[in-house]
Amino acid sequence: MLEKLDLLNFNKWYSNPTYYLGGDVMNVIDALNSRYTCRAFKQDRVAMDTVIKILDAANRTPSWGNTQPWNIYVVAGDVLEELRNGSLERFSQKIVGKPDLPVPQEWPEALKQRYVTVGKERYDLLGQELEQDAIINTVQDRNYRFFDAPVVVYICMDRNLTAYSMFDLGALSQSIMLAAQEYGLETAPAIMLVQYPDLIRRALAIPEEQAIVLGIALGYGDSSSIHNQHRTARRPIQEVSTLKGF
Ligand SMILES: Cc1cc2nc3c(=O)[nH]c(=O)nc-3n(C[C@H](O)[C@H](O)[C@H](O)COP(=O)(O)O)c2cc1C
Repeated sequence: MLEKLDLLNFNKWYSNPTYYLGGDVMNVIDALNSRYTCRAFKQDRVAMDTVIKILDAANRTPSWGNTQPWNIYVVAGDVLEELRNGSLERFSQKIVGKPDLPVPQEWPEALKQRYVTVGKERYDLLGQELEQDAIINTVQDRNYRFFDAPVVVYICMDRNLTAYSMFDLGALSQSIMLAAQEYGLETAPAIMLVQYPDLIRRALAIPEEQAIVLGIALGYGDSSSIHNQHRTARRPIQEVSTLKGF
């Protein structure tokens, strides 16, 4: 794990592209490098016009045969508050969520190691401010309160579609997250945002045949929150990729 001083500099560098570009510029590489899962948002509202611009840009995402399998539902204001309260209430009652796309319980060992590592890094960081007992509850609570985001985007597709379309939804999700950065907004893709699909379906009149695949929290990030201090590493590119013939 990075030492605290390094982490602070790292965050400054990563969370503020102008810091290293020396101007008010963001290109795609900067956006890819500076994006992180934001787990604490400010309460500032996001203009509907901005949301539409983000979705419009992301709608250019490629898809299998240009099938564009996605349906996007965006919620803010009172409707979101009602959903948030419903989610928190069920969490407090320990009602186990049942997302439309179940989370696999088994992962190959190497992948499991990575998610264990990232969890430990986050918990170690939170341990600087919270008692050990409070950490798990706080982390879960933040998820169920949608990280206090003022906007949540739900990505849906027909239940009968296959992994090919899921690929397209993943690409769309990343497009939304990158486009958001253009407007100074942060995001959190989270399966925990769709733990209770029945509540979301009812609030937004999402047809039964649409699977609610992923939620993306959206808003202005609270950079002072401890929940936003962690940055994740990646495997070295030499390990991930094979290049020949250059
Ligand atoms: C499909 C998907 C579901 C995720 N679900 C959650 C979630 O429920 N809660 C959460 O805190 N983070 C969630 N994440 C965020 C990942 O933990 C995060 O992307 C990963 O650790 C890499 O960190 P980074 O996004 O900050 O680079 C999810 C990410 C993806 C792509």
